[in-house]
Amino acid sequence: MDLSPGVLILCSLLASVAGQAAVVTVEPRTATVRQGESASFRCQVSGGAQPVGPIEWKRSNNQALPDNAKLGPGGSVLTIVSARPANQGQYHCKAGSSAGRGSATALLNVKFAPKVRLTPAGPLRVRMGDPVSVECRATGRPRPKLTWKRQGSTLQLVTSEANDVNTIRWPAIHPEDSGVYICQGVNNEGVTEVKVEIVVEGGLGAPVASVGATEMTVVEAHTVTMECQASGSPPPVITWSKLRAPLPWKHTVANGVLTLTSVGRQDSGQYICNATNTHGYSEAYVQMEVESPPYATCLPDQVRLQPRDSLSVQCLAHGSHPIQFVWTRVGRTSLPAGAQSTRDGQLLIAHVKLSDSGTYKCVATNHIGSSEALAKVIIKA
Ligand SMILES: *[C@@H]1O[C@H](CO)[C@@H](O)[C@H](O)[C@H]1NC(C)=O
Repeated sequence: MDLSPGVLILCSLLASVAGQAAVVTVEPRTATVRQGESASFRCQVSGGAQPVGPIEWKRSNNQALPDNAKLGPGGSVLTIVSARPANQGQYHCKAGSSAGRGSATALLNVKFAPKVRLTPAGPLRVRMGDPVSVECRATGRPRPKLTWKRQGSTLQLVTSEANDVNTIRWPAIHPEDSGVYICQGVNNEGVTEVKVEIVVEGGLGAPVASVGATEMTVVEAHTVTMECQASGSPPPVITWSKLRAPLPWKHTVANGVLTLTSVGRQDSGQYICNATNTHGYSEAYVQMEVESPPYATCLPDQVRLQPRDSLSVQCLAHGSHPIQFVWTRVGRTSLPAGAQSTRDGQLLIAHVKLSDSGTYKCVATNHIGSSEALAKVIIKA
């Protein structure tokens, strides 16, 4: 703040004791600074009279000076260092001369950018259909103008303003009202924005996930795709996971479709599609079973016996159940008389003959495929 002689104004003149008065002036009479700037006022007894006694400075109502007030030579210069909004107001100086005591008043204006406050501050989670209102208040000098808009839009919303409170209000909020709202305070010193997020729960915007098939049976080594679709607004984000296990190593997800390449039996299980947006989430499940064709082996795959010995060969198979076993003799239309085969894949001959020598074949079959295994039987006397 400059103390230019031109601003010297005679300001106030008060009678003191016994009808006598000192003419006290303060210059400048009014100072306007920005927050953070400093202002100085000089108080003097005018008319060439010699000041008598100390110069005193006070705020209105005889309050003490703020802690950022500094007094200059002889107390005549009051400096408000790095002014704060609360420093705005009147400063009175009292001085005396041989003519008596008098006082003068200076006014400090502190301009500052808006400070904006919302009640409630948010984020707000509300039910669809509920009434909702958010109040925006601001301080600032000059007095700020308050407006509301929605994030991502420049359109000013229609709100009600009364007593320096600008209120945005919904008598019954809708899911599509979910979003971030901004109250903006503007004055010459700056622009201040405060945001509040409003999430409307339930209703049309909430996600609903659905899968193409809830149960799938697929064959080992094949590629599997699981589709998940979700309605909701804003459009939900789809994620896939597997119940109690990580997703198989060879998987990809694109546009809500989970693809598993070359599945194995260990990939069987429950897969979960999760559709999430600001209103919540929705899960849909796919139960997948990976099936495999049988793989058969004979135990033992070669036997040497003597006539009258007993023969027992087990056909083993792994793969999806149920598995059927059929024994035949290679090159013959039927098994030898006295041979029997069991449901669980055993080939039995109680007493073998020389003519039972040969190759026997087990075929294991399930609903996916079949597999053969051979057992060589050698009988020598
Ligand atoms: C689905 O997403 C929601 C929100 O992100 C989460 O709370 C929930 O646990 C998820 N469900 C699964 C199965 O991951």
